[in-house]
Amino acid sequence: MKKIYLDNAATTPTDARVLQAMLPYFTEVYGNPSSLHAFGQEAKHAIEEARCNVAAFIGAKPEEIVFTSGGTESNNFAIKGVAYARREKGNHIITSKIEHHAILEPCHFLEKQGFEITCLPVDEYGLVDPADVDKAITDRTILISVMHANNEIGTIQPIAEIGKIARRRGIYFHTDAVQTLGHLPIDVDALNVDILSASGHKLCGPKGVGILYIRKGVRLRPFMHGGDQEQQRRASTHNVPGIVGFGKAVDLAKEEMGKEIEKLTFLRDTLIKGILSTIEFTRLNGHPIQRLPNNVNVSIAYVEGESMLLNLDMEGIACSTGSACTSSSLEPSHVLMAIGLFHELAHGSLRFSLGRQTSEDDIDYVLTVLPGIVNKLRSMSPLYKKEVK
Ligand SMILES: Cc1ncc(COP(=O)(O)O)c(C=O)c1O
Repeated sequence: MKKIYLDNAATTPTDARVLQAMLPYFTEVYGNPSSLHAFGQEAKHAIEEARCNVAAFIGAKPEEIVFTSGGTESNNFAIKGVAYARREKGNHIITSKIEHHAILEPCHFLEKQGFEITCLPVDEYGLVDPADVDKAITDRTILISVMHANNEIGTIQPIAEIGKIARRRGIYFHTDAVQTLGHLPIDVDALNVDILSASGHKLCGPKGVGILYIRKGVRLRPFMHGGDQEQQRRASTHNVPGIVGFGKAVDLAKEEMGKEIEKLTFLRDTLIKGILSTIEFTRLNGHPIQRLPNNVNVSIAYVEGESMLLNLDMEGIACSTGSACTSSSLEPSHVLMAIGLFHELAHGSLRFSLGRQTSEDDIDYVLTVLPGIVNKLRSMSPLYKKEVK
């Protein structure tokens, strides 16, 4: 049976070239980078090389990059780190309703400790209005955090504009770029961001490694206490193979991202057009243009997303309904609710996220298989029968 992986927003396969680059750092260059001997220094050199690569890729300085264990840690570090460091200055944080749980949960955690959180609404496409950000700012605001692009519906936010407002008002600005690093060009100065999170496993790098970019002069309170790694900002022995893999993944993105964006945009649009034109009662979720090149999110009325997902899985196609982190829950996705979908449509949504390995044949196969699955499921739906009568 064909096996087609279209869940790259959940995680990507590690590129074979990344794995090759990592392997020696398990068995040959295994020293602790904090050790002064040659074994340790060789590992340290590899980390610093990766740091320089990553920094250059986003227009930052190497000392502004902190390696973490992934996107969740980076987001927690950003939100709690600013909150605790600036507690004397204020207690108000502005974010959006469609952030990943790795932003929303730290915010809820802080709320219980007396911080005030404003979760801005989004429009029908999932866009935050920069004017709403401006209006929400008070003299107690210490942080604004708005994601670069949404993991479920792919909408790309007007980050540079929001950042401009944050800068004018003297407030730190963080963006969760977990879905965009390696998929869209990022320049921290052009985007006006002070703090930025990213994760290795979303750009064909390994799992368990991420970065937090912290602009020079921005103070965050560390929450990993122990050794003095990462200029005392994040204790724990470095994940050397992971960091080397992250650096290699960035190297590959540097070379291949332009072509990949072109290819994926074409495949994305083919899939969107194909679904909307062959299956009735469907809609595209997210922005039609300001959208990640690899994201397709559709709602298909009168069918359950879970049923479609399982049927697609039986045909060898992997996709998701809602975000992978919450797909075991029966609650409709908070992102689809925020863009104004009714529960029924939100429950009938599918996300296909394309990747480096995705081909035109894969998209054709989905377009051959999906209409039949939808017809079969709809033939069992009393609501659908009523609609077409
Ligand atoms: C937008 C966004 N932020 C944060 C995360 C969490 O990243 P990690 O899995 O590296 O902890 C994810 C993962 O899906 C994500 O999509």
